[in-house]
Amino acid sequence: MLEFSGVIGTSPRIREIFDLLARVAPTEATVLLLGETGTGKELVAQAIHRNNTRASGPFVVVNCAALPETLLESELFGHERGAFTGATHRKEGRFVLAHQGTLFLDEVGELTLPLQAKLLRVLQDREVEPLGSTRSVKVDVRIITATNRDLEAMVREGRFREDLFYRLNVFPVVLPPLRERQEDLPALAEFFLQKFSQKNRREGISLAPEVLEAFRHYLWPGNIRELENVMERAVILCQGTVITMENLPPAIQQRRAWPDGGEEKELELQELERQLISRTLKGVAGQRRQAAEILGISLDELNLKIRSYGLEG
Ligand SMILES: Nc1ncnc2c1ncn2[C@@H]1O[C@H](COP(=O)(O)OP(=O)(O)OP(=O)(O)O)[C@@H](O)[C@H]1O
Ligand SMILES: [Mg+2]
Repeated sequence: MLEFSGVIGTSPRIREIFDLLARVAPTEATVLLLGETGTGKELVAQAIHRNNTRASGPFVVVNCAALPETLLESELFGHERGAFTGATHRKEGRFVLAHQGTLFLDEVGELTLPLQAKLLRVLQDREVEPLGSTRSVKVDVRIITATNRDLEAMVREGRFREDLFYRLNVFPVVLPPLRERQEDLPALAEFFLQKFSQKNRREGISLAPEVLEAFRHYLWPGNIRELENVMERAVILCQGTVITMENLPPAIQQRRAWPDGGEEKELELQELERQLISRTLKGVAGQRRQAAEILGISLDELNLKIRSYGLEG
């Protein structure tokens, strides 16, 4: 099995990424991980850390979307006792906790403009000033960031600082969505099958061939995390020693659930759907948000369908 520190895959796309990772991991370069939800950004960040001399130091994660601005600020940079109402204790920031290790800033596109400015300063000076403190502390950290946002578009719209973008975008790595690397499905499915059959003490389970076939026809909007969840559920639902279509969620079963001649019916349905989306888009002059509302699906879902039906542009 091909892998890079726990990141699994055999497709040409993922092999390219293994090559990039092998080269950038041992350096001090700031890495920007780009990719849809569930494509393995955090796993890759850990793999980079583990293949660096910093591996013996800490790997510290901060999810920039999880906290409101003021809490995030003290989480990142720390605060002195009494720095603000409720600051009853001094608190070490994550930058300091990550000293001589790696700091992974997840969802960095969610940072507010003031925090972007503060982060930029820390990256330039390599020192942090905790809230309420007058002294700054030197920190030695490798920075990895991740986002599923289009940061360049945010820069154009004035929502992300251009100077910070260039600092973070030193070494971008794009993790492809699962639907664009179907070759990885068997290895990943097998990996999760092993993981969950061990966890549930159900060793010796295998996958029916039509299950893998169904996986190939599914778009996996939640990517590898979704596959992981589907496999865990299937192992738990599986009655005998073979995972069958019945053990899959309806959305994945659908394609195969047709009676004889179903393939054609499904093609007709897809064609109808394609036309419906195409006409709706025309009717609203390409405004996707408005089209999604009319169609009663989420914008993400619409974007996926537009891509899979080749309706872009
Ligand atoms: N190539 C891979 N090989 C094995 N496991 C993987 C791979 N990619 C992702 N995973 C697993 O899939 C799950 C989701 O990955 P991860 O949390 O790294 O995604 P993410 O891109 O950070 O997602 P999000 O944007 O939603 O935070 C994790 O359990 C991870 O271990
Ligand atoms: Mg993540």
